[in-house]
Amino acid sequence: MSVVSLFEAAAGSYDQARRRLVPCFDEFYGTAVELAVPPLRAAVADGRTPEVLDLGAGTGLLASLVGAAVPGARVTLLDAAPGMLALAAEHLTGQGVPHRVEVADLAAPLPDGPYDAVVSALAVHHLDDDGKRGLYRRIFEVLRPGGVFVNAEQVAGPTPELDRLYERVWLAQITALGSDRREIEAARERMSYDRPAPVGAQCDWLTQVGFVDVDCLFKSWRFAVFAGHRPA
Ligand SMILES: C[S@@+](CC[C@H](N)C(=O)[O-])C[C@H]1O[C@@H](n2cnc3c(N)ncnc32)[C@H](O)[C@@H]1O
Repeated sequence: MSVVSLFEAAAGSYDQARRRLVPCFDEFYGTAVELAVPPLRAAVADGRTPEVLDLGAGTGLLASLVGAAVPGARVTLLDAAPGMLALAAEHLTGQGVPHRVEVADLAAPLPDGPYDAVVSALAVHHLDDDGKRGLYRRIFEVLRPGGVFVNAEQVAGPTPELDRLYERVWLAQITALGSDRREIEAARERMSYDRPAPVGAQCDWLTQVGFVDVDCLFKSWRFAVFAGHRPA
């Protein structure tokens, strides 16, 4: 079984569990939206339709928050799980956000840009480190100069001890928020496929690819939001 088929099978119950499984939900997604908004508003000011690409978009959680923040923004949602994307399309249609969906693997060539913002939440850690670096190179290529890449991610601890601490804290937090044994087991099964990398290394990879003003703008244990800009 692949991680994509696990998400596909859990698509119907995915949204309800999010606030429990991502204990810092509001700050985490809120920071990602805050970072994506400026180049999208700049596009509006230039008289263009702002273009957003959401990688590993799932049920469209991040895309719908970005769409709500910048009315008129057009979102391309990419994911390998068609059932997740079907729910995303339903949500965005209901919200009146212009969108299209693309069933594709993160390792495949990206849809042609240029995009004003490329965003992603909790998806890139499904690739190994070479895959992440290759994806960051391809993202740079499809961004419009001055555009932003925002990655709201699950990251590894910089040492094995810190990684174990992240896991203990997460388990305590989600238990306190009401996750039951079944939900925790299902999440851990999906997470057994994860290949998270420390946020410091990933910021370095973005800089090596050519991104500027790279920084981690939010971090709470294993949840981090980092971003970089394609030079204008
Ligand atoms: C944890 S969900 C995140 C969904 C959404 N971004 C959110 O924040 O709720 C991870 C998503 O990544 C997708 N995914 C995992 N590996 C992928 C790959 N190699 N290519 C494309 N999508 C992938 C899964 O199908 C799933 O929808």
